[in-house]
Amino acid sequence: MCGIVGFAGTTEAAPILLDGLERLEYRGYDSAGVAVLSEERGLQMKKSKGRLKVLRELTDDGRSMTGHVGIGHTRWATHGEPNDVNSHPHLSQNGLVAVVHNGIIENYLEIKEYLIAKGICFRSETDTEVVAQLLEYYYSNSGDIMSAVYKMLDRIEGAYALGILCVDYPDRFIAARKDAPLLLGYGKDCSFIASDVTAILKHTREVSYMADGEVAVVSSAGIRVFDAMGREIEKERHTVDWDVSAAEKGGYAHFMYKEILEQPEAVRKTMHPRLKDGRVVLDDLKMTAEQIRGFRRLFIVACGSSYHVGVVGKYNLEHLLRVPVEVVLASEFRYADPLVDENCLVIVISQSGETLDSMMALRLAKKLGARVLSIVNVVGSSIARESDDVLYTWAGPEIAVATTKAYSTQMVLLNMLGLYMAELRGTVAPEDYAAVVGGLEALPAQMERVLENTGTIQYLASRYFNHNSVFFIGRNLDYALGLEGSLKLKEISYIHSEAYASGELKHGTISLIEPGTLVIALGTYTPLFDKAMSNVIEVKARGADIVALTTESRRADMEKTAGNVLTVPDAHRLLQPSLGIVPLQLFAYFVALQRGCDIDKPRNLAKSVTVE
Ligand code: AGP
Ligand code: GLU
Repeated sequence: MCGIVGFAGTTEAAPILLDGLERLEYRGYDSAGVAVLSEERGLQMKKSKGRLKVLRELTDDGRSMTGHVGIGHTRWATHGEPNDVNSHPHLSQNGLVAVVHNGIIENYLEIKEYLIAKGICFRSETDTEVVAQLLEYYYSNSGDIMSAVYKMLDRIEGAYALGILCVDYPDRFIAARKDAPLLLGYGKDCSFIASDVTAILKHTREVSYMADGEVAVVSSAGIRVFDAMGREIEKERHTVDWDVSAAEKGGYAHFMYKEILEQPEAVRKTMHPRLKDGRVVLDDLKMTAEQIRGFRRLFIVACGSSYHVGVVGKYNLEHLLRVPVEVVLASEFRYADPLVDENCLVIVISQSGETLDSMMALRLAKKLGARVLSIVNVVGSSIARESDDVLYTWAGPEIAVATTKAYSTQMVLLNMLGLYMAELRGTVAPEDYAAVVGGLEALPAQMERVLENTGTIQYLASRYFNHNSVFFIGRNLDYALGLEGSLKLKEISYIHSEAYASGELKHGTISLIEPGTLVIALGTYTPLFDKAMSNVIEVKARGADIVALTTESRRADMEKTAGNVLTVPDAHRLLQPSLGIVPLQLFAYFVALQRGCDIDKPRNLAKSVTVE
């Protein structure tokens, strides 16, 4: 689930591993460990529950360990509580191999029983330990490490990115992957593996992405990669053009704040290369015009905030394309027996491109014959690679667990896709098309204006930060916006909050409104402004405190009902959520700040959710 770094070079490995793990901290973790190998001192391992700084203290910043080859891990526990013993690396019984693992070994119990019956003793409660024990078992029998690795991989089921040290090979380590991210990095006299490129960006920009079933042997002299059958293969190399500083805080207190401020630029970068002379041009699509005209139904499948982009997409794409668009949570889609066939386009949205639920939904959609188009931020990620078409958001690395700039870029890109397809299908009038394009072009500067005035948002956050129940209400696109505003608030401030379609409140939830309940009333979707207002009046009459968000042109109307009014510039109505989300992100941020929360790494959460 969380982080893996591996290094083989001509300098000490431990400090490099610790530094790499630090760069993966943003993914959220509960424990960390490193193992280093040298000819003189053999295998040395340190691991502990808690933050990396504990590991730094334990190893004297890595100086207490010697060896030019090593593996490191940050764990997000799935099997066994977060404690020192369950932390990775895991050693085999006789200490011949050490293993770090991201993912889940599904058949670990059966293997564990098999090995226990052979007299092997287990130390941890993890699924991962079976990898180390099984590998040593096969290795001891055959004396051939590679054949033992293949045999072990054949036997385990589930998802894994693995880094493996073997005491008999102090100049190298082995890596393998299936359904969990792992890349190879090529440095000068050194080689790396990492679950995420940010871990090694300081050392190299040249990488290859491991595919399912591949095994790599990594040493200072280079990396040899073998396919699932053991045949050596050539990997395509990619140059990562992300800026290292983009993955650092650059003087801001939190990545989340920095990333909120980066949104206009991220949206510009995502949009501009695809807008030419007033037209949306999606050169990156392989889909033909004929295929685009042929789809009878669209699905948007995603998780969390990416799903919320999908909710906006449902409204906008149905409006533009006049075809049914279903937006489904990936974790539900997978098991719902969905009505997908070759007449469907399934759009998968994912920042990380590694979310397991979304990945599995993608595979199901392909199996059912649909064409899959993904909107992804991480180049070369699993979802990107398995999709028929990929549209990349150019948000750059997003470090804070709570997404902001990725959400904004996904939304812009999905709207652009809608417009592009609508033109080809002939379902949008030229003047409407031109109006949306004009609206898109105006967005980055409008976002900048919203970001210039954060004072009122900060004031309202300090006034309401100690509320323990918040409702976001709105209609149509404001409802979709509320879903994301509410998620932002709950994930980083731990305040219980819910988003409700305003018109639905009276069917039950309004009974929860009592004097002092905070209601964030969203009135930026101007076609339904008056209807939304009636619902604000209903909750106000029951004693709710209201913070309202509307457009500049509606401020005066909103002030008649609500005391605290925030505004954003008037945009094209289909694009209004792109502006509305910014004050809601800032509100969540300032509330969490007041409450002293760990904003970039909220409890229990991980940036990239690669387990089910
Ligand atoms: C957003 O703030 C969340 N941390 C989370 O909901 C996220 O959007 C979700 O896990 C999906 O991730 P993905 O976009 O990388 O697939
Ligand atoms: N399933 C393993 C464990 O619980 C690995 C978790 C991870 O990916 O960090 O230890």
